[in-house]
Amino acid sequence: KLRVLSGIQSSGRLTIGNYIGAMKNFVELQDEYDSYYMIADLHAVTVPQDPADLREQTEMVAALYAAVGIDPAKAAIFVQSHVHQHAELGWLMTTLSYMGELERMTQFKDKSAGKDAVGAGLFVYPPLMAADILLYQAHLVPVGDDQKQHLELTRDLAGRFNHRYGETFRVPEPFIPKSGARIMSLDDASNKMSKSSPLAGSYIAMLDEPDVIRKKIARAKTDTGMGIVFDPQNKPEISNLMTIYASCAGITLDEVQARYEGQGYGAFKKDLAEQVVAMLEPMQKKYAEIRSSGAIHDILRDGAEKAASIAEKTIRQVKETMGFLSPR
Ligand code: TYM
Repeated sequence: KLRVLSGIQSSGRLTIGNYIGAMKNFVELQDEYDSYYMIADLHAVTVPQDPADLREQTEMVAALYAAVGIDPAKAAIFVQSHVHQHAELGWLMTTLSYMGELERMTQFKDKSAGKDAVGAGLFVYPPLMAADILLYQAHLVPVGDDQKQHLELTRDLAGRFNHRYGETFRVPEPFIPKSGARIMSLDDASNKMSKSSPLAGSYIAMLDEPDVIRKKIARAKTDTGMGIVFDPQNKPEISNLMTIYASCAGITLDEVQARYEGQGYGAFKKDLAEQVVAMLEPMQKKYAEIRSSGAIHDILRDGAEKAASIAEKTIRQVKETMGFLSPR
């Protein structure tokens, strides 16, 4: 069986962008692939996190994984920091990285722009992500568009290691959905929808209550003019809402356009809100059940055990290959 690995940071509330761009595909891939889905808490602490919040958010992401339909019997759900090999290979990947290539990462540039104190963790974040993937010799990595550059770096680092020390790592392929890989903010379609945005009206959190979702969509920005037409260049706001609609309803953009021919923004937005609510409500129910059952801790323990057995094999091989003396 081919292998899949992906992860989501435990920082802030997950949005429908995280779901549409990534998690939805995690669920779809789990039947065909040997799947590993991680809660990236080591990545989360590249910016300061309140300890109580970090714990809560880590459990929240884990429970959301299960709530959206990742089946712990098929896929390993685990916390990055529970498998210490991530930190270990992360360091080795950092030593393999060049300052120049890390400086070119657009996520680093965005997160460090205009700040006078930039954490070094933000800078070496991509080699840790490479380690996450390479530890499992993953074939496929389902991610949204914003992680594409990090995937390219991962491929470069794998190739560099193999070239320097001999074939060790599989060079992974990204899996980026054709539609929905970049869900934009509700108040400005030139920005990505982000869980760390201070403006709650700019995103729909996966755990937002139905009435909150309805309000946010009613207030979402629309383009001047009218018509429900998919045209990201000239109608970026409505095109973004159409992308969300298509994904929630499980239909194509053409079908959305045909369904709303001749109709106005108001009617479309009302229906969109109901589509989003219909998609999220069952997940939210399941989420509440999982949280109150306490089952998540067993799921995470089993997941970490399964993950660690593979990670340990890889790290042992890597250290041997690089010439680290093994303890006797
Ligand atoms: P993170 O936690 O920022 O986001 C998790 C996943 O959600 C996708 N995503 C989006 N997709 C569409 N539209 C959006 N507005 C949107 N916002 C986020 C992201 O592309 C991502 O797939 N570095 C990663 C976490 C990570 C990881 C890994 C991923 C750590 N190690 C190994 C894959 C493999 C991150 O910060 O994603």
